[in-house]
Amino acid sequence: MAALELAGVTKDFGETKIIKGVDLAIRDGEFVVFVGPSGCGKSTLLRMISGLETVSAGEIRIGARDVAKLGPAERKIAMVFQSYALYPHMTVAKNLSFGLENLRLPRSEIDAKVQEAARILAIEPYLERRPKELSGGQRQRVAIGRAIVRDPDVFLFDEPLSNLDAALRVQTRAEIIQLHRRLKSTMVYVTHDQIEAMTMADRIAVLNAGQVEQFGTPEELFQRPANRFVATFIGSPRMNIFAGAISAIDGTGLSVSAAGVGDLRLPYAPGALAVGAAVDIGIRPQHFRLAGEDVAARFLVDYAESIGTETYVYGKLDGTSADAILHLPEHRHFKSGDRVPVSTPNDFIHLFDQATGKALTRLEQAN
Ligand SMILES: Nc1ncnc2c1ncn2[C@@H]1O[C@H](COP(=O)(O)OP(=O)(O)OP(=O)(O)O)[C@@H](O)[C@H]1O
Ligand SMILES: [Mg+2]
Repeated sequence: MAALELAGVTKDFGETKIIKGVDLAIRDGEFVVFVGPSGCGKSTLLRMISGLETVSAGEIRIGARDVAKLGPAERKIAMVFQSYALYPHMTVAKNLSFGLENLRLPRSEIDAKVQEAARILAIEPYLERRPKELSGGQRQRVAIGRAIVRDPDVFLFDEPLSNLDAALRVQTRAEIIQLHRRLKSTMVYVTHDQIEAMTMADRIAVLNAGQVEQFGTPEELFQRPANRFVATFIGSPRMNIFAGAISAIDGTGLSVSAAGVGDLRLPYAPGALAVGAAVDIGIRPQHFRLAGEDVAARFLVDYAESIGTETYVYGKLDGTSADAILHLPEHRHFKSGDRVPVSTPNDFIHLFDQATGKALTRLEQAN
């Protein structure tokens, strides 16, 4: 077990900068998830931590050790890949013990570690089978077992569940969470899956184009995204964005006017912005409420999908051109062309500097 710290880590492939200065302090025993769009550098960063990829600049520390110059075998890290990467001609037991035999550990110690990993992952019945005689989920458990027997300081997972079907993914996800509880090891987990990220992580690092956009708990990212990128990346369906402008500023906040939304009084600090500055208003689909006729906003329905207990409504706010989504926690009927009055509690309205995308700071409410 150990903390994992990245300081000013960069990676260039030839002329191209892929990782552009990443700083992350991951605590001992923490479960951290990397999310971000395809190609943003998640796997590259993980491979740099593991030692499979060199570091162009910066430091990687595991506990007190600077490991940036050490080879993969010396780092006390184990990595689990999407593709399992099991040896097809070896039994499960051999797949688990092989790495330890290379380290010339005593036989009794190897057997004990293999038995323990097999017990934790419930793969004891399959120890004498070969990988092709296992299901995808069983194979992935063997791959995780191969990481466990090495007793690493840090576990790295690169989309380990993406080859599994939906049901098996949910089950294996629960197993990895239990594994983390039991081993209390530091784990870094890469995924495309929002639900995986939100449910598994102590903290999530949102990566974009080789940089960390925000590093925080799932709640922080969802409730207080640092910028428009994080706001629209975390949460499904994605946050609706409407263009507006600051119309007045005083000590208690801002007035913002926006087509479709109307005039809002919001408890935000203007930062460097002045009256007239362009802002983006962010409202999550779940944060619209059906309202009475007295509100300013009308949702112009294009079509709606009800899945029994909830309803997704697709369309636009009347008077705007941006596609928008409404997500209601109930079964409702709407037809194309309906103009539905909607409102959003002030607490759920996000504001971004339109030019930089940076979130404006919410003023602490006086109680
Ligand atoms: N060996 C390499 N040489 C040159 N470019 C590379 C190399 N490896 C990765 N890249 C580039 O680096 C960028 C980041 O790749 P990486 O595999 O880290 O992305 P990712 O975030 O893991 O994406 P995905 O979600 O699709 O797995 C991509 O643009 C990729 O093309
Ligand atoms: Mg990847």
